Amino acid sequence: MEIIEKINRFPTVRLLWGNTPIVRAANISRETGVELYVKRDDLTGLALGGNKTRKLEFLMGEALASKCDTVITAGAVHSNHALQTAASSKKLGLYPILVLRGKEENIGNLLMDKLLRADVRVYDVKTGGELNDIMLGIAAELEKKGRKPMVIPIGGSNPTGALGYIKAAAEILEQERELGLDFDYVISPSSSGGTQAGLLFGFNVLKPKTRVFNIGVGDPRDELIEAVLKLINDISGILGIKTEINRETIESATIDGYGFGGYGTIVREVIEVIMYAASREGFYLDPVYSGKAFCGMLDLISKGIIPRGSKVLFIHTGGLGGVFQYEKIIGDML
Ligand SMILES: Cc1ncc(COP(=O)(O)O)c(C=O)c1O
Repeated sequence: MEIIEKINRFPTVRLLWGNTPIVRAANISRETGVELYVKRDDLTGLALGGNKTRKLEFLMGEALASKCDTVITAGAVHSNHALQTAASSKKLGLYPILVLRGKEENIGNLLMDKLLRADVRVYDVKTGGELNDIMLGIAAELEKKGRKPMVIPIGGSNPTGALGYIKAAAEILEQERELGLDFDYVISPSSSGGTQAGLLFGFNVLKPKTRVFNIGVGDPRDELIEAVLKLINDISGILGIKTEINRETIESATIDGYGFGGYGTIVREVIEVIMYAASREGFYLDPVYSGKAFCGMLDLISKGIIPRGSKVLFIHTGGLGGVFQYEKIIGDML
């Protein structure tokens, strides 16, 4: 397969334990009328797991290949990406600096960041743009001192990171063959767009008949679509492979309506869905990403947009730390 050969030429480090399991959700399947399977990317094996491990296999591969000694990334204080970046940096002997925004409290992912002795810096800023500027400032200072930092964008969503989800698409196809399955739909949450871009690209090249739906978790739709379009074009550029994906394809794959007032809002509807999945199948979704996406998927099924009898794969992208980050708010909703 040409695309796999091309991806394999990029430097990588192994951070996942191996292929993540695809598990049948028997109780929810019975109750919803679809055949639901869950790809447990929450069980990647690094820190608390999650989709960022796949991106970091490529991003950290690039950091090591270009002889960086420091990795700087950014996000909200609950950022799963920041924790995963810190954990992989520590494993590989690199120095992680996390540029975070929000309230500094030693709970959830921020506590986990500190437990692995990441250099955590929390700022009172509102936007990702401000965090980017801070990262660039820190990198410039370090360079003056002779250090070699690499700045990883929020969410690890650049074309190199997105390769991790093209590889995940290939892994899903391999598992379909092993398990005798043929998914009609693959569903994932989408926020900074790297997971979405990788999955759309991968399935478009490898198995176009599978419908990929990416459920927004409250970021502005236009910005997400713009980010995914740019990523798809940039991936095409670095791989030298063209796809038929265009703005319309991305628009129809991007599902809105389940952001519940915006990114990072913690709402009762989603907590109910977390409890539903946990009480039926024994796994935990998170309140910021996978819980909102699961909520969206259940609604698409109930409206018949995903018809009964379909074979559906939900990609559980992790985020468990978010449950603990927001334990007070969630606790008050029980
Ligand atoms: C648990 C979890 N799920 C999904 C996402 C969304 O992935 P992406 O940023 O690649 O769109 C993130 C990103 O932060 C995440 O932490």
